[in-house]
Amino acid sequence: MINNIRLGVNIDHVATLRNARGGNDPQITRAAIIAENAGADLITVHVREDRRHVNENDLKSILSVIKIPLNLEIAANPDMIEIANRYKPHSVCFVPENRKEITTEGGLDVSKNFNKLEKLVKDELDNDINVTLFIDPDKDQIIATKDLGVKVVELHTGAYAEGFGMQLNLETELNKIKEAVQIANDFNINCHAGHGLNFENVSLIASIPKIKELNIGHFLISDAIFNGLENSIFKMKKIIKESTI
Ligand code: PXP
Repeated sequence: MINNIRLGVNIDHVATLRNARGGNDPQITRAAIIAENAGADLITVHVREDRRHVNENDLKSILSVIKIPLNLEIAANPDMIEIANRYKPHSVCFVPENRKEITTEGGLDVSKNFNKLEKLVKDELDNDINVTLFIDPDKDQIIATKDLGVKVVELHTGAYAEGFGMQLNLETELNKIKEAVQIANDFNINCHAGHGLNFENVSLIASIPKIKELNIGHFLISDAIFNGLENSIFKMKKIIKESTI
């Protein structure tokens, strides 16, 4: 049976490379078009407060060239909601953001930020935009998500990816993700997953029934340096499709 999990290709780091020099190369729209043609089911970008990779102009130009949905990762604050409402991506994934972090380090604390998230999601974000919360695979976070009325979570696979290769950690972290998917499913919450996934570790996640989407960035852009973006995405899609559910 073919595994039909969607692949969201995160192209942030094309912009990271461009910003290292200024100017337009490598062109972010070219990356988006190649990703779409290579079989990406959606394009994901994270507009950060410090704009260290993509910015609003990128968002606008990517939206003008792609036909597949755009998933916008943003911090939960009014400035970012304003950007989302202006560009109306297919979905918004709320992530925690700490200016000094190298990448998104942990999931959102939904319980702690409940009132703020409730106001942003219910009163300020355009109703047509689908909402995802990026959370650690943790029961309390899923319960808080349910209480908030949000129907999709993206489970943080960073700890799993770090534990890959260390049998004990791998099993522990993989089980946390499996249990989280089960709990979410009981509450009718759809699950996506992402962070730190690569050709080696993606299969075990793609094999978890009911995960509907994976978002992968850094590894794909890194592999693309040696093999070309189209080939890297083809290969990732093939591995995902062949992962047994
Ligand atoms: N999902 C979310 C919510 C993220 O913040 C990131 C990193 O930007 C990813 C997925 C992709 O992680 P990676 O770049 O390690 O593949």
